[in-house]
Amino acid sequence: MTKVWTGNEIRSTFLKFFEERGHRVVRSSSLVPANDPTLLFTNAGMNQFKDVFLGIEQRDYKRAVSCQKCVRAGGKHNDLENVGFTNRHHTFFEMLGNFSFGDYFKKDAIAFAWELITSPHWYAIPIEKLYFTVFGGAEVSPGVALPPDHDAASLWVATGAPKDRVIEVPGLSDNFWAMGDTGPCGPCSEIHYDMGPAASDEGHADCKFPCDCGRYVEIWNLVFMQFNRDASGKLNPLPKPSVDTGAGLERLAAVLQGKISNFDTDLFQPLVEEAANLARVSTESERNRAFVTKGMGESAAIPPPRSRGGRLPSLRIIADHSRAATFLISDGVVPSNEGRGYVLRKIIRRALLQVRFLKADFPFLSLILPSVVAGMKSAYPELEEKFAHIARILDEEEKQFSRTIDTGLKKLYEDVEPDLWSKEKRLGLIAFSGEKAFRLYDTYGLPLDFMRDVLGDEGFALDEVGFNKAMEEQRARAKASWKGVHKEAANPVYTKLAETYRTEPDF
Ligand code: SER
Repeated sequence: MTKVWTGNEIRSTFLKFFEERGHRVVRSSSLVPANDPTLLFTNAGMNQFKDVFLGIEQRDYKRAVSCQKCVRAGGKHNDLENVGFTNRHHTFFEMLGNFSFGDYFKKDAIAFAWELITSPHWYAIPIEKLYFTVFGGAEVSPGVALPPDHDAASLWVATGAPKDRVIEVPGLSDNFWAMGDTGPCGPCSEIHYDMGPAASDEGHADCKFPCDCGRYVEIWNLVFMQFNRDASGKLNPLPKPSVDTGAGLERLAAVLQGKISNFDTDLFQPLVEEAANLARVSTESERNRAFVTKGMGESAAIPPPRSRGGRLPSLRIIADHSRAATFLISDGVVPSNEGRGYVLRKIIRRALLQVRFLKADFPFLSLILPSVVAGMKSAYPELEEKFAHIARILDEEEKQFSRTIDTGLKKLYEDVEPDLWSKEKRLGLIAFSGEKAFRLYDTYGLPLDFMRDVLGDEGFALDEVGFNKAMEEQRARAKASWKGVHKEAANPVYTKLAETYRTEPDF
């Protein structure tokens, strides 16, 4: 690999490669799935084609290619808690994919992937860096076993893959892909890239594929769609065998830019740098920094540096979450206390918590927005049109939440401080008091999952049983104090509101 590809080039090259091979270029669908109650957010390129695979909808093309906006936070595929602490987890990411609706099947899907990945005219990834897994057989529904996919294995070898690098993996967890508990599914074949020993999170000097230490990275998943799983778990054949593939743009960028972490690619680096500028910290010094071992906040008003790797994770979380929030708002989601709006609120609040860790000024998220838009507007011009709307929502949410955490977070750290150096507590052997957590929730409005995050980042567990008990006791007290009061005397609307907010708190 001699050429260094930009993220934008990787995206447009993928689309061009398949367009030249008879595929219709289809725009990404919204992150809010249309008419699909089984999905919280669009989480794969095939979502918008679900009914085409099922034969319910006909289109005037049988081959398609797309770059799909995806969010995996909440729902079946949820990566939220890992973001920032690993090289490859994201809430928002782009999935490149080619699709065949009853047109070509395994042979062509494998030949296309091989050419695009290895040809010197295209991505030119060295063959000796690649591994190929195929479905190794499993019980796919009660009493129904599917044999290993020897066809796919032979096709990889016939195409040029070294035989000892084509591996059949039994079971459903790795090489059988399903959109959800119901819907289209089928055996799949994955292409993995060897990032070398430096990428091993566990310091392995010479581990062999497949080792899940971080060295071997899945870059492309080819699903051979053949079934529709119904609500009883039964697999029914699709009208025609089809193809659904997905390659994470961020991972491909890491490979083609020679980076171990997706956050070091040009898709994230400008955002990480901008977050560092806004917070007036240097990314270089953060990289060289070992794990923080001391330095609790000089003032209790300012949260201390965290134990899980200094400020770099904070910068990465802000970079990731800014992209997710921008795209979700652009697709019409607004922060709220339920459903999609709640996940957006959670993402924004997690980012704001990191802003607090960095001791940066507010507003922050609306100031990083121009960098998000600058990097993405060539592929998603709508971001520019909706800029003012996105900035306003980010600012409003930031303002509102800042008021809550200014006081509440300070109190939380005051409560936590005496325990910070207790080994038992940090190992989670003794959890942070649920009663104290409830007091913070009740008095200052700190949401439960927010406290769970803050404490988790510091290595603490939270006694949620104690939290719920304290809440029940509070409810019982409140009920007792209502005794003798004629509810009917109040306007029923207010009575209903009071009940709603007493029983459905913001956590
Ligand atoms: N649907 C498959 C995936 O998400 C391939 O696109 O991995």
